[in-house]
Amino acid sequence: MGVITKKIKGTEDVLPKDSYRWQFVEDVMRKESAAYGFKEIRTPVFEHTELFARGVGQTTDVVQKEMYTFDTKGGESVTLRPEGTAGAARAVLEHGLVNDSLPIKASYFVSCYRYEKPQAGRLREFHQFGLECYGTQSPVADAELICAAQSIFDRLGIKQLRLEINSIGCPTCRAEYHKALKGYFGGCKDELCDTCNSRLEKNPMRILDCKSPVCSKIAGGAPKITDYLCDECKEHFASVQKYLDAAGVEYTVNPTIVRGLDYYTKTVFEFVTDFIGAQGTVCGGGRYDGLIEELGGKHLPSLGFAMGIERLLMLMDKQGIEIPKPSTCDLYVAVMGESASLKSFEIIKAVRSCGLIAETDVVGRGLRAQMKYADKIGAKFSMVLGDNEIEQGKAVIKNMSSGEQTEIVLDDTFAEKFMVLQLADVDSFKL
Ligand code: HAM
Repeated sequence: MGVITKKIKGTEDVLPKDSYRWQFVEDVMRKESAAYGFKEIRTPVFEHTELFARGVGQTTDVVQKEMYTFDTKGGESVTLRPEGTAGAARAVLEHGLVNDSLPIKASYFVSCYRYEKPQAGRLREFHQFGLECYGTQSPVADAELICAAQSIFDRLGIKQLRLEINSIGCPTCRAEYHKALKGYFGGCKDELCDTCNSRLEKNPMRILDCKSPVCSKIAGGAPKITDYLCDECKEHFASVQKYLDAAGVEYTVNPTIVRGLDYYTKTVFEFVTDFIGAQGTVCGGGRYDGLIEELGGKHLPSLGFAMGIERLLMLMDKQGIEIPKPSTCDLYVAVMGESASLKSFEIIKAVRSCGLIAETDVVGRGLRAQMKYADKIGAKFSMVLGDNEIEQGKAVIKNMSSGEQTEIVLDDTFAEKFMVLQLADVDSFKL
């Protein structure tokens, strides 16, 4: 049998040497969203297919073309989540959180699955960080959510990211808008792709985000939702802008943003960059006042966003933003012989319990090879343990960059002494 060494198209591995970049970004997201009062929610990677069909919408590209759907051995249709909003909403409903004090603020890290054509920044398995806020219709919440995304980008040092906002109205203004779209697209029915033809009656707004070049060209001249907003939606949108202005967040109103998922109402927004090619939307979100009801709950106005972690990392890379490398090894203990190996176990355990990183030989290499390894992993200090050191009860610690050597007694206080040593207070512990 051949060796399987090829990953599935559109998926990516994160290797140990690179994972610090992910951890750094995730850490910023975690801390920043906690500052806004969000707490993490974790939901399964697969859900009943029906959840996405109803939540994301039957006529969306995601549901019609991109889902990984399969029947289980028990005959149930399940789908790998194409996004995080529907699953989080399902969990909030299922666990009755809607009866808690509102709003409920949830954050998440999810892997998502969409059968799209892979290209730079577009994967079949990708990762999102998202925030969802349930139980508020106030425009203040829209502005605050956008501010949270902006703070994350600021903390990461990302520049030149445009915030584009729009309002796509509520079911009342949407009805008028749909009529206008049907009239417009009805005139060029023959040129639209088959999927868009089928959308014309059911959900003409979806034609606006069709990826086919012909359909998107036609969509360019379509009526704009902003001309059809009802008074309440207009007022809401104006208020969101007022709060964004007050927070000093820069944005442009882009009336062509409709987002590709059906649950959105009123405010929608995207953070877009020109640095990473065609897939320049790093973050997208908006209000979804009808979703919880659509899934069987009460009317619970809600909103959220998700940012693609791969796209963010690409952007940081392109903008030359340096991510600090974590220290890899504080102390490497090289050993000669079994008693030294046993002693090193004691020592590294004590050093690790002080919160430092310590390694010893677990391969059975000779001394030279061990020192070469210590160098390769970037150990800050190294120590050689042999029969001599054990007999005398002390060993020499070498600062790997300066070459400076310090002797330390191998007793119960070793770890504390090493800690001080590595804080550069070298002199006080010389024998
Ligand atoms: P979305 O716009 O479909 O929205 O995805 C959000 C972000 O995920 C995008 O801006 C992009 O950065 C990333 N993304 C999407 N598809 C891919 C892909 N194929 N490869 C790499 N990255 C991708 C949602 O998913 C909504 N659930 C956002 C939301 C949360 N709205 C309200 N709450």
